[in-house]
Amino acid sequence: MILANENYGKLQASYLFSEIAKRVKAFQAAHPEADVIRLGIGDVTLPLAPACLEAMHKAVDELGHAATFRGYGPEQGYDFLREAIAKNDYQARGCDIEPGEIFVSDGSKCDCANIQELFAQELRIAIPDPVYPVYVDTNVMAGRTGANVDGRYQGLHYLESTPANGFVPAPPAEAVDLIYLCFPNNPTGAVATREQLAAWVAYAKANKALLLFDAAYEAFIRDPEIPHSIYEIEGAKDVAIEFRSFSKKAGFTGVRCAFTVVPKNLVAYAKDGTEIPLHAMWNRRHTTKFNGVSYPVQRAAEAVYSRDGACQCTQQVDYYLGNAKLIRKGLQDLGYTCVGGDNSPYVWVNVQGSSWDFFDRLLNEAQVVTTPGAGFGKCGEGFIRISAFNDRTRVIEAMERIASALR
Ligand code: MLT
Repeated sequence: MILANENYGKLQASYLFSEIAKRVKAFQAAHPEADVIRLGIGDVTLPLAPACLEAMHKAVDELGHAATFRGYGPEQGYDFLREAIAKNDYQARGCDIEPGEIFVSDGSKCDCANIQELFAQELRIAIPDPVYPVYVDTNVMAGRTGANVDGRYQGLHYLESTPANGFVPAPPAEAVDLIYLCFPNNPTGAVATREQLAAWVAYAKANKALLLFDAAYEAFIRDPEIPHSIYEIEGAKDVAIEFRSFSKKAGFTGVRCAFTVVPKNLVAYAKDGTEIPLHAMWNRRHTTKFNGVSYPVQRAAEAVYSRDGACQCTQQVDYYLGNAKLIRKGLQDLGYTCVGGDNSPYVWVNVQGSSWDFFDRLLNEAQVVTTPGAGFGKCGEGFIRISAFNDRTRVIEAMERIASALR
């Protein structure tokens, strides 16, 4: 008899963004004339930067000639891209990360989801609340939690991110083994200071714990005091894995390219205390289960670091940050308290009531799609997330419609 993984039965009925898509589809079926503006899922709208497009075209042409054709590439990514990442994203910021520590992949979502395979079943896991649902759901699927009781999985340690702590949780008093952190944060848009991150690194060292640092939104940081990488914190190379993505930095949500940094000195432990290098484990997993990102996509990603590419991608991020500013101001003018939007594409709005009701209200009365905070965890209740990824004219119109609906 084929037995199912019954852990799937513990999950909420559908993934957050699938549930939202379902509701929007039902609304559109009932109101075919409605012009819906999507500020829900963080999906980019601007076309690829010309430098990336040019590099991709050139790479595609290379594949059309016997002399320059390429088949399987290295599973970990081509050296040209790993070197560009190490130099520009890390060494330029004083982080001692070498190309061999970078694993190129087709997305941070998959990497954040798959990394838990490297760890034992009985870990004590700390996960922020609210949080990107992938961290929680993948551990539920793997059987590391009990049932969901009153909106929380038993066995997980929740790090509450609330107005009281500025949406940046401090390390807990008790010991945990695996800690998920995301800054700039999805969904709140909050950023962590150097001191706050240093406290997490010190905690991980003291507890022989591991930090999983999701920096998918680092390109949106404009405050020069805020670290872009966990490796800007002294000692972090001993206790942290970092996830990065080209999705929001360069508009690659459909193109697909990301990377994960696993330092060579990083270890987990066997039950008898023997050190097990995580770089070798991730390399083993990656080479067994993944066959690399396509050559044209990696050439396009490399172009993100060219002089023109860097400038064009920065302009795109600035454009979305301009949208975020308008969204934040629009909501504040209506009397709502907001965070995020200054070093992040997400604005987190305190709606002081049911977030799904507020979501439905904006959908029905303004035809604007947002993301209800409750979908990110219990502490997300009472908030909605508004994404700045859309065209400026659409954002302006969305804010006008929201203002008329809420006034
Ligand atoms: C989001 O809207 O939270 C993100 O776009 C989801 C993702 O990156 O997978």
